[in-house]
Amino acid sequence: MNKIKNTLFSNIPVTIDKNSLIMAIESSCDETACAIVKGGREVLANVVASQIKIHEEYGGVIPEIAAREHLEAINVVIDEAFKQAGVNGSDISAFAGTVGPGLVGCLLVGLNATKSLALAYDKPFIGVNHLNAHIAANFIDTNLEPPFIALLVSGGHTQIIKVASYSDMEIIGETIDDAVGEAYDKVARLIGLPYPGGPKLDKLAQEGNPFAFKLPEAKVGDFDFSFSGLKTAVLRLVKSFDGKEMPVNDICASFQECVSSTLVKKVRKALEEYGYSQVVLAGGVAANSEIRKKIFALENDGYKAYAPIMKYCTDNASMVAASAILFDNTFDDIDVEVFSRA
Ligand code: KG4
Ligand code: ZN
Repeated sequence: MNKIKNTLFSNIPVTIDKNSLIMAIESSCDETACAIVKGGREVLANVVASQIKIHEEYGGVIPEIAAREHLEAINVVIDEAFKQAGVNGSDISAFAGTVGPGLVGCLLVGLNATKSLALAYDKPFIGVNHLNAHIAANFIDTNLEPPFIALLVSGGHTQIIKVASYSDMEIIGETIDDAVGEAYDKVARLIGLPYPGGPKLDKLAQEGNPFAFKLPEAKVGDFDFSFSGLKTAVLRLVKSFDGKEMPVNDICASFQECVSSTLVKKVRKALEEYGYSQVVLAGGVAANSEIRKKIFALENDGYKAYAPIMKYCTDNASMVAASAILFDNTFDDIDVEVFSRA
């Protein structure tokens, strides 16, 4: 990401530190969110307007509709955040907004609102990377400090990241095709669940037998993933029940077992290879019951595991504020642009 000194605001005697109050805005996909966070760890306001109900009838996010909905919601979530925290614009140390990756039309709405607030209140502006923000969700209400291995699992990304320090992050593995959330949503659609299918599939899986069907684990690089073959295997399995009653819960549980064991096996390998003792789960799919269970089971082997509480797993602005202080903590020029892909 473009990180340059904020020339427009260079006369402002503001430094960002552990006591700074950040107002952040997130609008990269289908949630319009605003939050106010102190020191990157203490949430004073967390407001999220979700569009899931609107996109449900189309079976996925329609970018143009999402951008229009962000426009409708943006001022409302900002006002509500100020009200919840009991502060006003002049109390804020800096305004932070997601610059990408995400849907360009959606990002523009939130980022322009963030820049306008910074200009109106004469405060610095910080552009935040959405993926850093998902990882930073783990700093909220904890004393977590790097180094750690992060497993980032969302609708668009699946990565293992070595976080050596706040300024030294390296992607050591990622998916070569579908992201985990994408695989969940596609498999959910195959078995007739409405969008977004991930959380619904997770619920059914908890009622099924995870060892009912042996599904294939992709053979790819050390820390890389591939989920498209697994998706095809589930499709074949579903078709094999043509006309007969399908054991939906068992299929969901077997899929969930295959995904979660593959993910956590590679995370363990990364912990061992790099000699790290802390592991951090991040992204929308961090809400998944079985992946959380397996990540926390690593504590039985002496590792310390972290995962955000549910409301900070899926898209929210508190994680953006946390990242603005801890990862993306340099002021940006006001002309920083949004980007769609990492
Ligand atoms: O991080 P996120 O809110 O948006 C992106 O940045 O992509 O993640 C959304 C993804 C969706 O694919 C959704 O189905 C999935 O997270 N998800 C889940 C669960 N909760 C959300 N997948 C599996 N199990 C869950 N419990
Ligand atoms: Zn996200």
